Amino acid sequence: MEVIATKRLSESLGAEVLDIDRDRLLSDDALPGACLEALDVNGVLLFRGLHLDDATQVAFCKRLGEVVSVASHPIPEITVISLDPKNPLADYFRGAFEWHLDGSMDDIPSKASLLTAHVIDEEGGDTEFASTYAAYENLSEDDKQRCQSVRVVHTFEASQRRMHPDPTPEQLADWRARPSKEHPLVWEHETGRRSLVLGVTASHVVGMDLEEGRDLLDDLLARATAPSQVFRHVWSVGDTVIWDNRGVLHRACPYEATSPREMHRTTLVGEEAIK
Ligand SMILES: [Fe+2]
Repeated sequence: MEVIATKRLSESLGAEVLDIDRDRLLSDDALPGACLEALDVNGVLLFRGLHLDDATQVAFCKRLGEVVSVASHPIPEITVISLDPKNPLADYFRGAFEWHLDGSMDDIPSKASLLTAHVIDEEGGDTEFASTYAAYENLSEDDKQRCQSVRVVHTFEASQRRMHPDPTPEQLADWRARPSKEHPLVWEHETGRRSLVLGVTASHVVGMDLEEGRDLLDDLLARATAPSQVFRHVWSVGDTVIWDNRGVLHRACPYEATSPREMHRTTLVGEEAIK
């Protein structure tokens, strides 16, 4: 018998894990391996209505791998995501409205992230996911060839420009003071799979005319995130979602800054550099 039963949530990615309760998350020895395997296959896993408290969420994540400590919360592995102006990270979280992978400016992006919905927005705030493994696999052979040697510069500036299209000189200077990062467009994973490294931090293509490079990046992102390629999760309070950050782009759908929406995130430490 399979350790977990899953149900596909869209054509291209996402699966709901069925018949799991809080106790099994913590006590079933076969569960972590089965979840990681299902995550590899499906990109996104949904557990409906688990209502995980922070301690249980962190304990479950520690069974899946090493967990990032952020220390801005009484439980240092928990990041509270909200646009509440009292939240010091609120402005930063507005960047999540654009397609991105977490840690695209780091040497090693996180392996996976897990979100639990504590308060939802009545009108917006869904989360969308798109597979960058599928984005690569769906390319024509010619496009795969063309992308193979392309290198892309990722910058903080690129990620801010959409939110602040008319930056002040001070903002620009601040953005440009942050180190940029160069990644291959095609990530050759240790598993042998390939994915495209795209998203809001992708600024320009090395050695290519600026506009031509941006057109290429825009075109690839549009194809990767075409409606047929996206799984959109409409949250209910108590839902938990985990996604494979190495091969999945995500974004939050818009919601008002006054919204009480509150998600609790835990992040698994990455193990593999983009190369
Ligand atoms: Fe994110």
